[in-house]
Amino acid sequence: MFSGASNFAEGVDSVFLFIFTISFIFLFGLTGIMVWFVIRYNRKRHPKAVQIKDNTKLELAWTIIPLILVLFMFYYGYMAFAPTRVVPKDAMPVKVTGQMWSWSFEYPNGKKTTELRLPLNKPVKLLLYSPDVIHSFYIPAFRIKEDLVPGKENYMWFTPTLEGSFEILCAEYCGLSHAFMEAKVVVVQDTAFNRWLDEVVALTVEEAGLVVLKNNACTGCHSLDGKPLIGPTFKGLFGSKRVVVVNGKETTVVADSAYIERAILEPNKEVVKGFNPEIMRSYKDVLKANDIKSIVDYLELDSKAKK
Ligand code: CUA
Repeated sequence: MFSGASNFAEGVDSVFLFIFTISFIFLFGLTGIMVWFVIRYNRKRHPKAVQIKDNTKLELAWTIIPLILVLFMFYYGYMAFAPTRVVPKDAMPVKVTGQMWSWSFEYPNGKKTTELRLPLNKPVKLLLYSPDVIHSFYIPAFRIKEDLVPGKENYMWFTPTLEGSFEILCAEYCGLSHAFMEAKVVVVQDTAFNRWLDEVVALTVEEAGLVVLKNNACTGCHSLDGKPLIGPTFKGLFGSKRVVVVNGKETTVVADSAYIERAILEPNKEVVKGFNPEIMRSYKDVLKANDIKSIVDYLELDSKAKK
């Protein structure tokens, strides 16, 4: 909880501790006074109620003291918040896409990943983009959180100050798999980062398909390991027989390359029995022909490898 890993962690933590301490003192102070009143003024000791009129000093005290306290809370909070909106000029821009229900990242040189890798002690500006609903990009260890709003350009910046791997979460409820919308941010030394960034990865056929699946959030709904998620699993899919519902009638089809292509382009025509047809949208405008080929090749290789 207390090991902050970005330049903003210290400021956020001290505001939190300040407000928490005040709340703690008030909680126990007020509870103590309440208990004391219950005992001191019970019916045995005070059989007759007394009408008390106002008390100006007391009323002024309980107005002015809390007012000063909340003004301090505002001041500390604002001092910690203000620098988060002023981006240094040399910050490296990284495009972050959050969509139901996964994260993907694009670097200035075009490199795309599903894990955010960053250099230590270098400022980063994240350009936040959502094509579907509101998500919220949250790195607890960095003490930063910012919403991704469709149709609006939003950003956040920070400097990672600790090497290591930290959790990225979605902090805005965004549908069925919201709880599983997570990724990793890995902070490494500057030189190691540059080497990694410049690496032109020659992907194998299998990796290329997997990258397409992950970058388009397919694996948010379709597991690779057989676990049932919102959609049918990809494990053992290729070549298997499946019962689908077409116009309300059940038929059996073989999941060959033509079937997989149909399932991507027109997912609501043949619905796998037991699944909700409305959840998956068509990827006609999203995936190119070679993307679909990569997916089919990946699924075919994958089913062979597991046999
Ligand atoms: Cu994305 Cu919750």
